Amino acid sequence: MESTYLNCLALFGVGGAHPGGLQLTKNILSKEKIDDTMKILDVGCGTGQTSAYLSKEYGCQVTALDCHKIMLEKAKERFRLMQLPIDTVYGNAENLPFEDGSFDMVLSESVTAFTHISQSIPEFKRVLKPNGTLLAIEMTRENPVTEAELAQIIRFYGVKQLLSEPEWCAHFQRAGFNHVHSEIFKLQTDAMNMYNAVDFSMSKDIDDSYFQILNEHQYLSMIYQDKIGCRIFRCRV
Ligand SMILES: C[S@@+](CC[C@H](N)C(=O)[O-])C[C@H]1O[C@@H](n2cnc3c(N)ncnc32)[C@H](O)[C@@H]1O
Repeated sequence: MESTYLNCLALFGVGGAHPGGLQLTKNILSKEKIDDTMKILDVGCGTGQTSAYLSKEYGCQVTALDCHKIMLEKAKERFRLMQLPIDTVYGNAENLPFEDGSFDMVLSESVTAFTHISQSIPEFKRVLKPNGTLLAIEMTRENPVTEAELAQIIRFYGVKQLLSEPEWCAHFQRAGFNHVHSEIFKLQTDAMNMYNAVDFSMSKDIDDSYFQILNEHQYLSMIYQDKIGCRIFRCRV
């Protein structure tokens, strides 16, 4: 397995692998009307922390999808231990294995930036019901970066792009989301630094190279703290 940032998150089994972690998730979800009749897709669910929270807290029907086998195995184990009736699906955000209009809500917590957005964002729109909501927490370019800096960020994190807030909004609108609202999430250094995670399910015998990735992540978080940010997007048709 290649020593990448996403493989590192998977091997350490980081729950809440997005800026702000579960605390931010709870905050965002508390502003939505969610009940047990709703169907919610947690796309790029990682180890399933948010899916578990949604199912336990709201009793809604949750589908947790990811394209990383280790992430999905850890999510399944979490749901089994917590006895939660969550559907787990191995799949790609760019080609979702669901019928049109299947979900009331799609959540993408630090996932879309890793995908080809010309495919994934229209897929989120397609699988949403006409009055559905997309909630996305995404990495943003908050200040200009040089080409060399951009290349370093893209290479290290494995994101496909580093968009500014207006660029993200334009992509959501192009996919048919006419109402896009965004909010900045102020990262604190220690929030970037493993996202306040207290929820780990570590694999055995993690290679030293992955500890180096954690160090590099801390270093990059620090040097790019004014250039890389995070926004919460709420998108509706
Ligand atoms: C930074 S992690 C966030 C995980 C989770 N949403 C969370 O907040 O804890 C990004 C996740 O997106 C998944 N991912 C990346 N590209 C994907 C794609 N094209 N389709 C499905 N999942 C994807 C990765 O496997 C990983 O689990």
